[in-house]
Amino acid sequence: MSKLQGKVAFVTGAARGQGRSHAVRLAEDGADIVALDACADIATVPYPLGTADELAETAALVEETGRRCAIATADVRSLEQLGAAVDLAKGTFGHIDILVANAGVWSSSTDSWSLDEETWQTMIDINLTGQWKTAKAVVPTLIEQGTGGAITITSSSIGLKATTGNVHYTTAKHGVIGLVRTLAHELAPHHIRVNAICPTAVNTTMIKNDSLYALFRPDLGSPTMSDAEPGLADLNLLDVSVIEPADVSAAISWLVSDDARYVTGIALPVDAGSTAK
Ligand SMILES: NC(=O)c1ccc[n+]([C@@H]2O[C@H](COP(=O)([O-])OP(=O)(O)OC[C@H]3O[C@@H](n4cnc5c(N)ncnc54)[C@H](O)[C@@H]3O)[C@@H](O)[C@H]2O)c1
Repeated sequence: MSKLQGKVAFVTGAARGQGRSHAVRLAEDGADIVALDACADIATVPYPLGTADELAETAALVEETGRRCAIATADVRSLEQLGAAVDLAKGTFGHIDILVANAGVWSSSTDSWSLDEETWQTMIDINLTGQWKTAKAVVPTLIEQGTGGAITITSSSIGLKATTGNVHYTTAKHGVIGLVRTLAHELAPHHIRVNAICPTAVNTTMIKNDSLYALFRPDLGSPTMSDAEPGLADLNLLDVSVIEPADVSAAISWLVSDDARYVTGIALPVDAGSTAK
């Protein structure tokens, strides 16, 4: 029997990148999927975000595994939209067992004091408050069901140690660790485990964009990924510049399964040794 057979996983930021990879991996493990994404660009984010076509492609990939997929277009900044997605999940599948709160954005900052207020606030609203709102929307259903559950919330290696150039991102991702640790306390009596996942740079559009290249190579006019790669590799102990979404999905697959039944309240680095460096 597949290890997540009969489970339903609610995955945010699922149109592409890590969220898509997590959705497909958990489906391969036997779970039905609710795939949620805002499918809209954001003014302060310097690269295009997921699209409705990409979210539909995620659903098709999930269905290729033989599992079912419900699509929800929702912004994690909106409790109302998240609530509608939870209703959709319950209406379609009858229950939710796993939450993978993965949606997030990135943008750079020169230094903390020059960052504009809108860019700071948008980052906190999505990468920190959005994760809290996602938990707020889903947790009551997990508790009511009385059958336990597993939650992962995506932080970052930058949630465990700081660098320069991302104060708002670093602050939000550190905050996520506090959210996870608190939820782990609150939900343990309900047999709901809560863990953070902390990846180093991952091979997605969040990394593969001109603004990120410029952060690593401000000395060049139009830097490319190959210009940024030595700097990205220098973050890690192991000889790799970016890990793959599947590397993170493998860790989530373990964390939400019964193989990790006594694991809660941890921040698990999947980081090529970045936080140990
Ligand atoms: N790529 C990296 O290097 C890296 C490293 C560590 C942690 N992370 C984190 O991993 C998570 C996934 O990022 P990714 O690398 O797959 O990037 P990505 O940009 O490929 O995917 C992020 C997805 O989240 C969606 N999204 C963004 N804002 C949203 C909102 N307000 N509501 C709903 N959906 C929204 C986007 O549309 C997109 O589909 C993020 O939380 C990110 O901060 C990324």
